[in-house]
Amino acid sequence: MEVIDIHNHFFPRAWPDLAARFGTPDWPSIKHTEPGKTEIMLGDRFFRKIYSACWDPDVRLSEMDRDGVGIQVISATPVLFAYERPAEHALDCARLFNDAALELCAQGKGRLKSLCQVPLQDIDAACKELTRCLRAGHLGVEIGNHVGDKNLDDPGIVTFLHHCADEGAAVLVHPWDMLGQPRMPKYMMPWTVGMPAETQLGIVAMILGGAFDKLPPTLRICFAHGGGSFAFLLGRLENAWHHHPVAHGVCQQPPSRYLDRFYVDSAVFDQRALQFLVATMGAHRVMLGSDYPFPLGEERVGSLIRSSQLTAETKARLLGENAKEFLGMQHDMPAATAPTPAVARGDQLTYSSYLKVPELLELQQPQSAPQHHDELLFIIVHQTYELWFKELLHDLDAVVANLRAAGADPKSHDEVYEAARLLRRCTEITRVLVEQFTILETMLPTHFLAFRGKLEPASGFQSEQFRELEFLCGLKDEKMLQYHRPTPEGHALLARRLREPSLRDVFFDALRGMGVLAQPAAHATERERFDARARAVLSLYRDEHSHRDWIDVCERLTEFDELVVSWRLRHIQLVERTIGARMGTGGSAGSSYLKLTLDKKFFPELWEARTLLTE
Ligand code: HEM
Repeated sequence: MEVIDIHNHFFPRAWPDLAARFGTPDWPSIKHTEPGKTEIMLGDRFFRKIYSACWDPDVRLSEMDRDGVGIQVISATPVLFAYERPAEHALDCARLFNDAALELCAQGKGRLKSLCQVPLQDIDAACKELTRCLRAGHLGVEIGNHVGDKNLDDPGIVTFLHHCADEGAAVLVHPWDMLGQPRMPKYMMPWTVGMPAETQLGIVAMILGGAFDKLPPTLRICFAHGGGSFAFLLGRLENAWHHHPVAHGVCQQPPSRYLDRFYVDSAVFDQRALQFLVATMGAHRVMLGSDYPFPLGEERVGSLIRSSQLTAETKARLLGENAKEFLGMQHDMPAATAPTPAVARGDQLTYSSYLKVPELLELQQPQSAPQHHDELLFIIVHQTYELWFKELLHDLDAVVANLRAAGADPKSHDEVYEAARLLRRCTEITRVLVEQFTILETMLPTHFLAFRGKLEPASGFQSEQFRELEFLCGLKDEKMLQYHRPTPEGHALLARRLREPSLRDVFFDALRGMGVLAQPAAHATERERFDARARAVLSLYRDEHSHRDWIDVCERLTEFDELVVSWRLRHIQLVERTIGARMGTGGSAGSSYLKLTLDKKFFPELWEARTLLTE
């Protein structure tokens, strides 16, 4: 899956002196202060510090690799819109920066795309510049959410948006020229308060002003910063619409009926806000937008979505699939990944469409030619493991959330109960995973060797989800990241898991919250900390009456640990039975290497507590 960031900005390294060119003051200029660092000035006024990612494709691409971003769709910074200036100046300025954007994209190895800007104070000129830019390679346009006193339901702007729909241009609406600035002179309030309000105003004006009723549904339009305050205050708008005729505007339907007419980006910086946004707008309407590389942008692009509790399918939509639809890039998608709606328009949901059975059955692609009979089994067994790994991650993430909540409110027992319940599911799944190897053992070693050569250098070392499970449970080993270099998204995901508190960490944090485990002294050694944690577990078992629910969690975690060791052992037996003492396709010594992993434990303190127990 290609990760696409639809909201980020650029500045060229240099541009002409616009104040001299147009004979008017306060145009943006760039002042290089030290290597790779610059300041944007508005006349003599300092506006913003920026760095080389704004103009240097190599810096951008390497930071995209770091964050697992495949494509960035760059756009200008609203300070360049110039809607308040003479239209011919704004057009000249737009051309300059639109061409500069394409130059940057040309050096982006196909991974940088762009949206143009237009002089929106002159609708004819704006339409012409849009058309020119689309022909030159831009995918659409970025516009401000208003032009002076004109909101987005202004007839001229609606005409322009119609033109965008006709031309197939994606439209990103960016807040700018924020309201109420005299009351917000400090603390970046125009950005933190004014911008969300501006964006909300843009959406509300389009809905109530009837713009969506006039515009064709083919218009692809997105509002930045999660749509500002819109989603959160939709209820208020809806209430006003139903109960106060004066708040009706001229739209034909209640405001909530227009949510499928626009997209929003994901730049909300808070998990609860993202969950709420997706719940309000729908998983098809939110797209990764980072505001990179500006100070208020997401530091590790995509991390909010990746670390969310959203399902993998929703994450995939937010990280790239929705953007492909928004940008009109679906035709670039390989057939297998093109989204198929669960319910074809007018059709009923069926077993097959709900479970995506046709797509699922397309996913087995043997490499041997002529196809070896047993390769299908080999693929299906691995895919089944990966599906169960997905469910384990899903459940263990929920266990982490429950334990976190339990630590925050030690009196509440619901979360501890829920954590134990989900852990029991995890142990049952793992029991099946241990058993499942027997199916693969029906394959003769000779039959495996007949197609093994086709698989190199693919190896179990590259199972992202297996490593994720290890990292999530607390077995973190940075060295294992090296096997994921070929898949930047997986690499970024694992790097995040490395940084995040593990299940083991959260479990002991909860014991701290309950007062069972003291904060370690700053100078405490690792061994002393470990012993203190083991003693805390011991104290739970010693007071069974008070801690039944926590003991249940401990027992489930211990059982899970035990079963994962069983999985490792059965895997080794399978490996020896199939390839003997041969080296692995991932370059390890094979079974002799795998035997070293048998001593690994996710929750060693739980085992240590058993040693400490006395009669
Ligand atoms: C004929 C069947 C199999 C053989 C010969 C085999 C062989 C190996 C070998 C030799 C390794 C060590 C890494 C390397 O050098 O490549 C390995 C690792 C691994 N394999 Fe398998 N494997 C088989 C089936 C499976 C199955 C069905 C799964 C299910 C997911 C699996 C998952 C893994 C994982 C997760 C690792 C990494 C283990 C770790 O780092 O602790 N393997 N495998």
